[in-house]
Amino acid sequence: MNGKMNGNRMMTGARALWSAAALLCLLLAFVAILPGQASAQSSVRLDPVQTQSPTGGAVPGDVLGVTSDADYWRAVRGGVNGNVSIPDKKAGTLIQSEGEAWRSLRNGPLSLYASWAMLATIVLLALFYAIRGRVRIGAGPSTQTITRFKAMERFGHWMLAISFVVLGLTGLNVLYGRYVLKPLIGDGAFAFITQMGKYLHNYLAFAFMAGLLMVFVMWVKHNLPDRTDVKWVLQGGGLFSSKYHPPAKKFNAGQKVIFWLVIVGGVSLSVSGWALMFPFTTHFFAGTFGKINMIFGTELPAALSVLQEQQLNSLWHSIMAIFMVCVIMAHIYIGSIGMEGAFDAMGTGEVDLNWAKEHHSIWVDEEQSKTQKAPSGGASPQPAE
Ligand code: HEM
Repeated sequence: MNGKMNGNRMMTGARALWSAAALLCLLLAFVAILPGQASAQSSVRLDPVQTQSPTGGAVPGDVLGVTSDADYWRAVRGGVNGNVSIPDKKAGTLIQSEGEAWRSLRNGPLSLYASWAMLATIVLLALFYAIRGRVRIGAGPSTQTITRFKAMERFGHWMLAISFVVLGLTGLNVLYGRYVLKPLIGDGAFAFITQMGKYLHNYLAFAFMAGLLMVFVMWVKHNLPDRTDVKWVLQGGGLFSSKYHPPAKKFNAGQKVIFWLVIVGGVSLSVSGWALMFPFTTHFFAGTFGKINMIFGTELPAALSVLQEQQLNSLWHSIMAIFMVCVIMAHIYIGSIGMEGAFDAMGTGEVDLNWAKEHHSIWVDEEQSKTQKAPSGGASPQPAE
């Protein structure tokens, strides 16, 4: 009987011991899981070294190790990269603070100063027109014309020009459309136009690049600077005299400046536009900053994330585009209403002989001496219709 009682007592003691052990295990498991749960609110795991408290202070009870919630989220807000197991490693950055800086720069000062620059260009051109008037052919129109640009040259120019104008308008719509166009035409029409504009912008970029290449190949040899340019510049291009224009070859110094601005600006626009069209594949800015640092000893950030690269590309593309729009507005002015006889060069390709002698006297001499050597050549002056 006694033995039975002893056995029962032992059984009860063992059960109590097992229960206590199980409770302890549960408690231990709970304590082990708790900090894990706190930091696993997202699937992004931050590098503990990056998120350590700057003061080294521990949170009471060490629930979060040495990292408090505030430090943790401060690090996240500061753009600290975590690790993710999915292929898109960019998802490891929960908050990219530069995105906010990019947005406020683009929608703030950039948009504002860009609109001032374009307005100032228009005002200056209008003032120039009001003061100088149309640049007339001093000797009056002649009865003869001379071939200025062949069909292929005009084709290249117009491919470049038309694509630029459409790219410019659709690009400006992305920057200003919601403030200027949307209130005028309504949400639906604006959404439709903007979406069509985006397709046009993407596809016409290739026509622009092709036109740029054509124009470069056809005209680069006529745009190398030489001594005549110095004379032309010193005499102000004859822009303020209706009688005298300094001698010039196929292109005068002013046109050469436009040519090189179009080429360099066009390449810069194309490269930054390409990076925007195929995002996260280029490192132009990190590479450029690195070289600038090497040459000038500056400390520009040479290690940039792909997102930062995109933001810089976007800002640079807008700045270059606005600059080019201003330059091209001046070019369009002088190639159309600003100068009598200029448009024909790109219209029919035939220009008035007196116009050519006034603006490109050396070129006319060269062309005429060529035709004297070969009388059946295509550059001979033609009677005007
Ligand atoms: C859309 C209106 C445009 C008009 C009416 C126009 C007109 C002209 C004319 C008449 C010329 C020949 C000047 C001469 O005989 O020497 C010319 C040349 C030229 N155009 Fe245009 N153009 C326009 C747009 C553009 C655009 C958008 C670009 C480039 C993005 C461009 C780039 C050039 C270049 C590089 C030259 C040769 C250099 C020069 O003459 O300045 N044009 N243009």
